Amino acid sequence: MCGIVGYIGDKQAQDVLIEGLSRLEYRGYDSAGIATIENNVIRVEKKKGRLKNLEDVLAKEALTGRTGIGHTRWATHGVPSDENAHPHYSVNKEIAVVHNGIIENYMVLKEELKAQGHVFVSETDTEVIAHLINENYTGDIVETVQKVMKKLKGSYALGILCAKEPEKIVAVRKDSPLIVGLGDGENFIASDIPAILNFTREVYLLDNGEIAVLTKDDIQILNINGEAIKKEIFVVDWNPGAAEKGGYDHFMMKEMVEQPKAMMEALLSRCCENSESFGELKLNAAMMENINRIQIVACGTAFHAGMVGKYYFEKFARISVETEAASEYRYKNPIVDENTLLIVISQSGETADTLAAIRLAKECGAWVLAVTNVVGSSIAREADDVIYTNAGPEIAVASTKAYVTQIGCMMLLAAYMGRLNGKLKEADSTRIFRNLMMTPGLIEKVLDTKETIKAFADKNYRINDLFYIGRGLDLYTCMEGSLKLKEISYIHSESYAAGELKHGPLALIEEGTIVIAVCTQENVFEKMLSNIKEVKARGAHVLAIVQEAHRDIASEVDEVWVIPEMDDDITAIPTIVYLQLLAYYLAVARGCDVDKPKNLAKSVTVE
Ligand code: F6R
Repeated sequence: MCGIVGYIGDKQAQDVLIEGLSRLEYRGYDSAGIATIENNVIRVEKKKGRLKNLEDVLAKEALTGRTGIGHTRWATHGVPSDENAHPHYSVNKEIAVVHNGIIENYMVLKEELKAQGHVFVSETDTEVIAHLINENYTGDIVETVQKVMKKLKGSYALGILCAKEPEKIVAVRKDSPLIVGLGDGENFIASDIPAILNFTREVYLLDNGEIAVLTKDDIQILNINGEAIKKEIFVVDWNPGAAEKGGYDHFMMKEMVEQPKAMMEALLSRCCENSESFGELKLNAAMMENINRIQIVACGTAFHAGMVGKYYFEKFARISVETEAASEYRYKNPIVDENTLLIVISQSGETADTLAAIRLAKECGAWVLAVTNVVGSSIAREADDVIYTNAGPEIAVASTKAYVTQIGCMMLLAAYMGRLNGKLKEADSTRIFRNLMMTPGLIEKVLDTKETIKAFADKNYRINDLFYIGRGLDLYTCMEGSLKLKEISYIHSESYAAGELKHGPLALIEEGTIVIAVCTQENVFEKMLSNIKEVKARGAHVLAIVQEAHRDIASEVDEVWVIPEMDDDITAIPTIVYLQLLAYYLAVARGCDVDKPKNLAKSVTVE
């Protein structure tokens, strides 16, 4: 949430900052702003709304400095407005700050500063930091920032300019992501790799409590006491094109289309002789013997992948698993100890609640295994073990390719655990792997039906409600389909265990209500048919998703979408692609901003 970027070098900073912000907009788009230093004077331009609004202002009068910081905001403290937009600055404009995170003690600090005569113009927590640095300035910005860090409580990634030291950017990280990019005669800071991928692939991944001091030719990394730290350079192996739209109207469509490739990458990176291989894990069979509890913790779409993961663990490894939303887990005094394996799933690797769950579980002695897409992310670094989903950068706020790869990894991991504990035979694990290897082709088949889905969406885009029903694995697909629809099309939707309908939700069904019945699981197919009849009898318009063998369900429902015949365990992968496409086309038909849905941001780095 919130994206920050900074540049120091010979180019006009504004251009680099705007380019960087355009790639960080998925982190928040309530406002955008930049500050640069020109002739020892800080100039700031910031605007409510999309980056375009800021660009329009800068087109009339550019900021011409060669050192600058920029920000794209996801509002936490204070409504989206020009005043609350970052950068924030001290009244004398000697200090400018961009911030991602939340300063928890800002009210106390603000009162103290007000008592010292400071006048505030915004409602944000961030403005306090600019004033605090200004108030405590010793003539050395690095020393001052160290001092101020000790007063701040909460999470922050900061980019700081000081008019009296115009040849420097100071950057600080505590519990909010921040990287430093190394250039030739120029250097960068950013919340995330895509922001600077067009300029450099060499970065330092800052750790908590670290301070980076950038000049155009040098980068120093210090700890909070000002002692120098030697950091490894991390070389990004993404190609810059991976973070571009590549001719598609939306990142979401590009990322849905990339799913077969992403799945293949996720599988091939952990295959050995037709079976899964997790050579990267430190967790071994001996350690597994001591594990008597597995918990899967994640948020949103990743949580749904966790529900699917639970199903696989229980089926293949016969281990009982609890799956919980990270925001619930961390506050419910969970039963977790040194015999617990905590598996966290996170595309971004930066989600605040998930990170907090890791810390809590580690304090209690649990072993933490992260499944994440972003190499070097906070979650990857704090976990004991990491499995990378290798889906490539996901930019659209709505997660698609990360989800299918998370499911793929969970299935492999469950099979691996099943082999470790002897509950899964070698032949079954080979079968699971072979089945998974078919999923890229199966996803392609669903993607080929785009026009049918678009036609359905074009006909139905005015609906106000949509219901998804399913049983077993299909229920999790319904939950994910419903989330996707809500977030990008703003259509109200619900997902229900089909067997629960008559315990309440059936009352919501009326003439013409669209119900999507996901019926890909043979063991409950007949039960689903009964549930379909129940909603049909109340006037629902039913669209069923079935495997090829059940195509003849057409006589019972209004529309049918078919997936090829496959093992029931893998249907969750191609089926969700239908629901992703449906959400996409409904959102497009309703004129929604698919890649940047209102009120949301890609990387949820605040609670
Ligand atoms: C929905 C979506 C979110 C994320 C959630 C967790 O499409 O993308 O629900 O899944 O915010 O994010 P990560 O996976 O980055 O931890």
